[in-house]
Amino acid sequence: MKSIDVFSALDLVPQPLLIVTAGDPSNPRRRGGMTVAWASRVSWNPPLFAISIGSSKYTYQLIKEYGAFAVHTVSRKLVDAAMNVFGSLSGRDVDKFKLLGVEPVKARRVTAPIIPVAPLIMECRVVSEHAVGDHALIVAKVLEAYQGSEDKPLAFLHANAVEIELPSE
Ligand SMILES: Cc1cc2nc3c(=O)[nH]c(=O)nc-3n(C[C@H](O)[C@H](O)[C@H](O)COP(=O)(O)O)c2cc1C
Repeated sequence: MKSIDVFSALDLVPQPLLIVTAGDPSNPRRRGGMTVAWASRVSWNPPLFAISIGSSKYTYQLIKEYGAFAVHTVSRKLVDAAMNVFGSLSGRDVDKFKLLGVEPVKARRVTAPIIPVAPLIMECRVVSEHAVGDHALIVAKVLEAYQGSEDKPLAFLHANAVEIELPSE
């Protein structure tokens, strides 16, 4: 077996490709979102979902302030937004929704901007936070979920957005 350094190894673990949003959808200065790949379901009952994010991110600040966030899976339609806007720019400098021409809608159970065309949307309320190395692991309860489109979600592997082959029904 060929050895591989641990940082390259971690890039080879398939991960989700998500846009996590937070803040007040109707206030361009108090809303934001970021691309997140370090995320997972972490409890069956209650249904808990965890994201690992840098505490310097603007989205982290909004999540702390509003105690909630929304998770969106990323389709081909959203991949450019995920890689080049939500995953690259800071919400401190720019309203990413306005830049993309996306009008966010209100969430049903929490305060968070929703991107209505995402394949899957989950509304989450923060239940705890844990310091993990150089990131903050935020654990949240999934309160509500709905489908914005029938587009296929992408995954993240080896620094690339990749198609997932879905089983036929
Ligand atoms: C594909 C991809 C995955 C990312 N995953 C994470 C992640 O899991 N955690 C994190 O802290 N940052 C992650 N980032 C970086 C943030 O999305 C990026 O720093 C973003 O600009 C932060 O925006 P904000 O400061 O407006 O919150 C990722 C970026 C990309 C492109």
